[in-house]
Parts: sequence; structure tokens; C-alpha cells
Amino acid sequence: MQYQWYPGHMAKAKRMMQEDMKLIDVVIELVDARIPLSSKNPDIDTLAGNKSRVILLNKYDMADQRFTTAWKEYFEAKGYFVALVNSKAGNGVKQVKDIVNKACEAKIERDRKKGILNRPVRAMVVGIPNVGKSTFINSFVGKASTKTGNKPGVTKGKQWIRLSKTIELLDTPGILWPKFEDQSVGLRLAMIGSINDNIINTTDLAMELIIFLSNFYPKALMNRYEIDLPEALKGQKETMPVLEKLAFKRSCLLKGGEPDTEKAAAILIDDFRSIRLGNLTLEFPEPIAKEMSEPKTIVKDDHKA
Ligand code: G4P
Repeated sequence: MQYQWYPGHMAKAKRMMQEDMKLIDVVIELVDARIPLSSKNPDIDTLAGNKSRVILLNKYDMADQRFTTAWKEYFEAKGYFVALVNSKAGNGVKQVKDIVNKACEAKIERDRKKGILNRPVRAMVVGIPNVGKSTFINSFVGKASTKTGNKPGVTKGKQWIRLSKTIELLDTPGILWPKFEDQSVGLRLAMIGSINDNIINTTDLAMELIIFLSNFYPKALMNRYEIDLPEALKGQKETMPVLEKLAFKRSCLLKGGEPDTEKAAAILIDDFRSIRLGNLTLEFPEPIAKEMSEPKTIVKDDHKA
């Protein structure tokens, strides 16, 4: 996925979303289950105002199940309706209709009191690029739905998809731009492949990944590459020898027999993104995050790569 954000794109995306927000009752926001906070643009809270909110932890098939459950509870405690979804395989997609209806119960009740009966709730899917919006919409919509076209009182050109008697979906998702003022957020987005790889130094990224893995998932590294990791790594100086070992193990050698660390870095990142290192989560909700940062309380040993 290649993209870059320019201020013009962001302003346009924001304007479009503000317009679309006026038409809907509920926001279905996709985040990546491996990095639920880093893949969530906080501006959506302002944009969504008082609309009902659903969060889908998408790509949960790639994340560490233990933490996905913790993230679900984290968002539920903040008042969101939450579902775990694997849009690619269609797992968890069916239940989203029930969750949307639940999220809109109060609105349906208000309508009923006003004498408005059987008006479907209107939903819009939003999320940063590559989070799985199109895949989710295709799976959610399936074959059984009908496009309803323009409606009186609704902005011309908007297409609505009737999902059931009670739900209509805006057929184009809202694009949020990733927000990476915080360097660690940018790093996580880069690790999962949501930032243009051309603007990233692969070796630096791989070294950051090794530092993270040696701290939280050392077995994933050790088992995959059959290398020793005597300790949790802290800096790049300690990390380069690990990348060199990995290069030797994968026969990534330069002409003189030196390790080709750039090639090894690319292999590591590709292995991570293709879940060949196992199902891994890159950030943890409080209070787990705090526990994990304390030595000796790391739950890493349970992990099976
Ligand atoms: P977007 O509209 O938000 O930009 O995202 P899009 O649906 O294009 O999905 C981006 C990539 O993420 C696609 O992979 C898609 O298959 C994958 N994807 C979406 N949802 C899931 C999920 O729940 N689990 C997994 N494992 N993958 C998911 P791609 O490599 O770009 O395309 P493809 O080769 O899979 O077709």
C-alpha cells in the first residue's frame, strides 16, 4: 500500500467526513487489533460528536488473542460497543449488525416516542488507510443487500446500502489520516506496513522490532530464527549483533562474506507482517501496559510462535 498524506488531502477528508456525519446515526470505526490506539485517530471523537460509536478490532486473526480481549474491555469501559472482526475471512462480521442495533437502541427508542417507526439507522465506516475498511464493507454487505440510491433530503450522489430492515450503510468509507506526532505511534504504523515503505529505513525499523520482540516476545524471535537472546534489548548497539546473527542464519551475505543486514531486516519485517512470527500485538492497554514495563512481570513466556 503506497500513500502519503498532504495537508490538502487531510483537509478534504475531514470536510467530507464532517458532511457525512450529518447524515448518519452511528459511526463504525475500524482499528487494527495489533495496534488499536496507534491506528485510531483521536480527532474522530470530535468529528463524531454525540453519534453512537462502534469499534471493530479488525485483523484480530493477526493479533495476540490475550490482548485483543483486554483491548475489547478497554474500549467497552470507555462506552464504545466493540466487536472482534476478521474481515478477510468474514469472521465476526455477522454480529456487527446486532452491535449496531444495540448501539442505536436509545435513538430507536427516541424515534419511537416521536412516532417515527421503522426508520433504519444509518451507519458509516471510518478508519485510517489499510485498516481494512473496503474488505469489511464487502464482507458486511455481502450479496443480500440492495443499493438504495439518492433519497429526498439527502445530499445528491450519496449511495446507501440497505443491510437489513433496520440498518443502512453509507457505501463509501470515511478516511481518517494516521496521526503520528508521537514517534512510537509512527513506528508501530510502520511495523504493520501502514506507512509508505519507501520513506522508511528498513534496518532501523527491523532493529526497533527486534528491541520490542526481545522484550515482549523473545520466543517468537528465538524459535523462528534459532538464535539466542540472552536478555531484553534496549538500544541499537545491542541490537545490530542480533540482526547480524539473523543474516547469517538466513544466508544473507554480502560479497566478502559479511552479513547483509539490510536483507535480513527486510526478511524480519516481512515475516512479522505475514504472521510467520506468530500472532503478536504491538501495544497494550492499561493496566497491562504498566505491568509489562516492569521487569519480571512480563507474560511473554506464554506466547506460542
Ligand atoms: P482500507 O480500505 O482500509 O484501505 O483497507 P483494505 O480493505 O484495502 O485492506 C487492506 C489490507 O488488509 C488488504 O490486504 C486486506 O486483505 C487486509 N485485511 C483486511 N481485513 C483483514 C483482516 O481482518 N485480517 C487480515 N488478515 N487481513 C485483512 P492486501 O494485502 O492489501 O490485499 P489482499 O492481497 O489481501 O487482497
